[in-house]
Amino acid sequence: MDIGLLSVSMNVYSTRRIVEEAENLGHFIEQVDHTKCVVKLGKGKPQIFYHGDNITNDFDAVIPRIGTKVTRHGAAIVKQFEMNGVFSTARSLSIARARNKVRTLQIMARKGIPIPETLFAIDPDNIKEQIEILGGPPVIIKLQEGTQGLGVILAETKKSAKSIIDTFYKMDTSILIQKYIEESNGEDIRIFVVGNKIVASMKRTSELDEFRSNVHRGGSTEKVTLSAKEQYIALNAAKHIGLGVAGVDLIRSKKGPLLIEVNASPGLQGIEAATGVNIAKEIILFVERNGRKRRK
Ligand SMILES: Nc1ncnc2c1ncn2[C@@H]1O[C@H](COP(=O)(O)OP(=O)(O)O)[C@@H](O)[C@H]1O
Ligand SMILES: [Mg+2]
Repeated sequence: MDIGLLSVSMNVYSTRRIVEEAENLGHFIEQVDHTKCVVKLGKGKPQIFYHGDNITNDFDAVIPRIGTKVTRHGAAIVKQFEMNGVFSTARSLSIARARNKVRTLQIMARKGIPIPETLFAIDPDNIKEQIEILGGPPVIIKLQEGTQGLGVILAETKKSAKSIIDTFYKMDTSILIQKYIEESNGEDIRIFVVGNKIVASMKRTSELDEFRSNVHRGGSTEKVTLSAKEQYIALNAAKHIGLGVAGVDLIRSKKGPLLIEVNASPGLQGIEAATGVNIAKEIILFVERNGRKRRK
């Protein structure tokens, strides 16, 4: 097959691993920096150009690895490939859903997937009430579109919660307020789903004096065994967001596992190292099963 890997750089572990495994399995794969793609609409079929070449019909499938900074443009490029009939491991709609935590949690709540009690608002005039609706401090305050643990704040008192929330509202920054799940103890579970199958899962544990378990925040990783309920949540979360490849994050609470977010471009480095699973190969096998079989 001819595969387009939408990624800004070859200098990323996940990108290199996907290229390596695609080539091992005998496919042609090209890294395409979606930030350098140009789409032309109107007068005939839409065309996608890359460094001056028309790549509209070059690929049987695309694998989007869209970073957080250019999600909108990246999703629009994916959309264009989709509209031209190319299989994508992540639909543009799904990328947009996963990008925004409120949007993700709204879908999860509707589908009956357990999540931490979460509230969103923009009204600076009744912040006290908002904090009370969640049962008072401590609360977690999160940027709706944050990532890597940046933009996740623990407010332990009503005073600090109020001033932080007030600041974000006044800055027109979209946030959510969430019950702090203290017993998760700085740990979370990352579950890697590829095509309705769990291929790997790991536990991340935060550094001392840190509640965020993100690897980018110094968290350490180890392989973990999932309960049946955790497996159910991960598979259904990926399905409802509509992602063929997803990194589903859960925390373990007293009342059972709670979904906190779904990542559309989950990293491979930490989880391949922690579990020894060849996840890049799983992704290519998934593309083989679904991509248009069309060899030039
Ligand atoms: N409600 C919560 N209670 C306790 N810890 C949380 C809660 N929400 C997030 N965390 C911790 O903070 C980390 C980052 O939060 P997350 O929502 O995944 O944002 P990001 O997109 O930045 O990774 C999580 O991995 C978890 O360890
Ligand atoms: Mg996270």
